[in-house]
Amino acid sequence: MTRDGKIGIGIIGFGGIAQAAHAPGYRKVADQCEIVAVADIDPTRLEEAKSEKWGITQTFEDYKDLLALPEIDAVSVCTPNFVHLQPTLDAFAAGKHVLCEKPMAMNSDEAKQMIAAGEKAGKQLQIGYNLRFGSGPQSLKRAVAAGQFGEIYHARAQAIRRRGVPSWGVFTQKDKQGGGPLIDIGVHITDMTLWLMGHPKPIAASGTAVTKFGTKEGVLGQMGQWDPKIYTVEDFATAYVRFDNGATYSLESSFIANIAKEEFSTHLFGTGAGAYLNASTNQVTLYREEFGTLTDTTPGWLPSVPSSHGEEVKLFVKAVKEGLEVASLGAASGEQALMVTQIMDAIYKSSELGREVTIE
Ligand SMILES: NC(=O)c1ccc[n+]([C@@H]2O[C@H](COP(=O)([O-])OP(=O)(O)OC[C@H]3O[C@@H](n4cnc5c(N)ncnc54)[C@H](O)[C@@H]3O)[C@@H](O)[C@H]2O)c1
Repeated sequence: MTRDGKIGIGIIGFGGIAQAAHAPGYRKVADQCEIVAVADIDPTRLEEAKSEKWGITQTFEDYKDLLALPEIDAVSVCTPNFVHLQPTLDAFAAGKHVLCEKPMAMNSDEAKQMIAAGEKAGKQLQIGYNLRFGSGPQSLKRAVAAGQFGEIYHARAQAIRRRGVPSWGVFTQKDKQGGGPLIDIGVHITDMTLWLMGHPKPIAASGTAVTKFGTKEGVLGQMGQWDPKIYTVEDFATAYVRFDNGATYSLESSFIANIAKEEFSTHLFGTGAGAYLNASTNQVTLYREEFGTLTDTTPGWLPSVPSSHGEEVKLFVKAVKEGLEVASLGAASGEQALMVTQIMDAIYKSSELGREVTIE
């Protein structure tokens, strides 16, 4: 707690997502929390933290110095994927709650270690799957809760970009990132879809992950130009997943593909209704057969959600302040994010082996 009785926050990794989502998110609930300190191995980022924009005076190159501050109750882990595990374990060992960016970890072994450490410490672990909090997904979730879909027996999701390789950070390096579009954006749409489906347990997956463009010189980059010489991740993946309740899920994810445009969407196939949800535009359509008519229902108005990231951070602060489980507030828990990680592991393994693999 800070001297004002607010939740003390530390941010580990003060790059893109920390400055675009976490710091603004905490600032929006500044009556309940205060960003006490920031840690980043890059001194430029620490200068940015100290700048007039953020005015965060305590900055550290070693995140362990941040974790030693007693007034910090909770941390955001906003480092690259290969630096999610250790800061999370160290934060729990220091008695802090953790909001860790997505994907949860490089693989499910790491994810399980993170969950176990959180349980041992008795602290909350939330994962930064923010798509759920958009106005479209929230509207669809309310329709699911109202029983409109009957049995949801299939979902079909896409997180596909035409020329959208993140050119900054380490997004193209398999050893630091764990993979390409699948683990970067496929995880987002998968979390949102599993959440809408009610988190059935994944039991098997088959898929392929291929690199057709990323290592070539001269491919256009709508998100900046990456270095093809150090591109070691897939640029397209496709997968088919089975769940213990008989439901299935298909996914396509790309950084680069010859397609019309970017699409972040999911289709739900239910016995009572189907739906299309575009997570970028919050377009929602329900498909039903009713009174002898095939109907397509779209919202006339949706309650506004100014920022799905802001909602994610707000709920984390609420969970910490009120001692609530993050899942009870609708946020992504470690266990829910582990399911996504297990699916991604299985897809990569299936791609290597050329066959369906079981998820234990
Ligand atoms: N939820 C979303 O929509 C979303 C969007 C973008 C990124 N992300 C996730 O956020 C994470 C970071 O991505 P980014 O785009 O902000 O990357 P980034 O490269 O802009 O920022 C990462 C920061 O972490 C710092 N860092 C690296 N190792 C460190 C260490 N040991 N200690 C302290 N700081 C360290 C880097 O110096 C850098 O400033 C990734 O896991 C990514 O998947 C999530």
